[in-house]
Amino acid sequence: MKVIAHRGASGYEPENTLLAIEAAIVMEVDAVEIDLHRVEDQLVVIHDRWIDKTTDGKGRLKDLTFAELRRFDAGKGQKVPTLWEVLKLINGRCAVNIELKADDTLALLVSTLTQACAELNFDSTQFVISSFNHHLLKNLKQHAGEWRIGALTGSRPLDYAEFAERLGAYSVHIDVDIVDKYFVDDAHARGLKVYVYTVDKEEDIDDLIALNVDGIFTNYPTRSLVKIAHS
Ligand code: G3P
Ligand code: CA
Repeated sequence: MKVIAHRGASGYEPENTLLAIEAAIVMEVDAVEIDLHRVEDQLVVIHDRWIDKTTDGKGRLKDLTFAELRRFDAGKGQKVPTLWEVLKLINGRCAVNIELKADDTLALLVSTLTQACAELNFDSTQFVISSFNHHLLKNLKQHAGEWRIGALTGSRPLDYAEFAERLGAYSVHIDVDIVDKYFVDDAHARGLKVYVYTVDKEEDIDDLIALNVDGIFTNYPTRSLVKIAHS
């Protein structure tokens, strides 16, 4: 079962910052998950549309210039990083799950990932692009179908795995509170990986191993890795 550092090792360092991502790599995670928005012509790694929760600033991303955004502190003196800064830091040392939080990121994302495969130590199989917005995923499949796609869901419609298979997804990403054997078995029968978010309780890890899920997103990678190693 793979361990994916959720927003970097965000239980230990400020989420979606270079500090959190480097900490996750030091912990030897399999992958890092980050959230993606766009400000002007820059892809930026931050969870919310508003900067209030994770920086010392206030307001909406869409009302800021990139230069303004970069003046705020995202924790421990970190700036909100660009996607390129994150990729340069990781440089192929682990896989990356990029979650699209906005609908204006796609074209720039594809060109950035293509550049990362050409100029850094990545190959394309190290990236999974995910979103709760399935219109976006369909668009991605149509225009850049060579990238791995993760279909994200916070609910469990009966035909979800069928939908993901039809989409040509690589994986389905589902909430720990609703995943169950039927969902996992259906997805696996269709050749889809199952990744579960956000798993911070050690007791849940045993259940997810028994369910045979392929990976967990966690804010506390060290704890999860130790637990998995001893199970
Ligand atoms: O990608 C899994 C998980 O990150 C989705 O929820 O709100 O933490 O971005 P959220
Ligand atoms: Ca996310």
